[in-house]
Amino acid sequence: MIDWKPNTAWEPVTSDREPDAASAYTDARSRCPVARTDVYGDIWVVLNQELVDEVALDTRTFSNVVPFFGVRRPPLESDPPEHTRYRRWLNPYFGKKRLDALEPRVRAAAVEMLDDVVHGGTIDFAAALSHPFPTRVLCMVLGVPDEDWKLINDWSTRVDRVGGQQAPGAEDRVAVGEELHPYMAKLIAQRRGNPQDDVVSGLVRAEIDGEPLAEDVIVGIVMLLISAGHNTTTGGIGNAVLRLARDKALQERLRADPSLIPAAVEEVLRLDAPQQAMRRIATRDVELGGRAIKAGEGVWPVFGSANLDQAAHEAPAEFRLDRGVNRHSAFGKGIHMCIGAPLARMEMRIVLEELLARTRSFETAGDVQRPEWPRMGVSRLPLHVTPA
Ligand code: HEM
Repeated sequence: MIDWKPNTAWEPVTSDREPDAASAYTDARSRCPVARTDVYGDIWVVLNQELVDEVALDTRTFSNVVPFFGVRRPPLESDPPEHTRYRRWLNPYFGKKRLDALEPRVRAAAVEMLDDVVHGGTIDFAAALSHPFPTRVLCMVLGVPDEDWKLINDWSTRVDRVGGQQAPGAEDRVAVGEELHPYMAKLIAQRRGNPQDDVVSGLVRAEIDGEPLAEDVIVGIVMLLISAGHNTTTGGIGNAVLRLARDKALQERLRADPSLIPAAVEEVLRLDAPQQAMRRIATRDVELGGRAIKAGEGVWPVFGSANLDQAAHEAPAEFRLDRGVNRHSAFGKGIHMCIGAPLARMEMRIVLEELLARTRSFETAGDVQRPEWPRMGVSRLPLHVTPA
């Protein structure tokens, strides 16, 4: 039996000695596509594309009912048929029509935040933009007033901090999960009286068997959206800007031809997947990749590793703008595939468009800090920026 130790394998990535994840997986994937690790208790990690797909698509055997913050947060921490109901309520708020309508506000927020810092000299891009910006955008989707976005950002920063290496349901995790409850309860009460075109209003209108959703359930969903949509998008934006900061030729190519930005976004997501892995729990004894997994054991599909599997992607370690359809799994696979993917793509594209348009060049100017596995992003990104 071969163990895979994320804390060891990932160390060159978190200490920024390796630019991306490729080296951390290649050897393990070829020797043990299903490995043991003790990073979150004793769990199995699934590293190659074929088996990641098997786990993600077989929701009966590999359940998502893993309460990570103590309370269950559907749709992520739910299985069908419950899951289907939640997706039906939420999907419309992440569809093209609403996102197109939102784009000017998202762009205006990006421009305002960039104009505050792009004056020449050195900035921490993580603190200035990649960390706070996704929270501000989530507030627009949820219906949280813009003047309150910093409050929500403080909360999600604390969620990030306790989220690190703590086990599901750990006391600190549960406590911080509860912190925003009174604020959200007030927002829900307001929307009950005066509905708008936002997620909270949509959830207030939703019904199960003719009964409205309980306040706790709505608060759980909203908190899931804030935490699921924040760290990940923060990572996506930070990883994209870091890559361009280190690759001047790529940076200049995208500045000269912004129509290439969407393809660059997909390659960043594939190579540096912000959420490297997700949780599942086996509902029965099952064999996977030659391993005997027991009912109740944790099984984590590692999407970030599948994205680098040469059996599924040509020259997987290369950054290529001409892949055509880029079938990466950075947003997951199957029924739990990320509901916020179109929003995240839009945010990444807008930040790159506006940053490239406002600068002549930017490069790293000091040590980059990265979070722990299974996240991949930047928690500190010092950039030297030369305005256009
Ligand atoms: C680059 C940014 C993002 C990445 C890499 C990402 C990644 C993922 C992944 C891998 C999953 C699959 C979970 C699983 O299989 O268990 C997922 C699900 C989910 N994501 Fe994202 N996400 C991003 C942005 C967002 C945003 C902006 C939101 C906005 C609210 C969001 C909300 C969700 C939700 C609610 C789920 C659960 C969906 C379900 O279970 O049906 N994510 N995300």
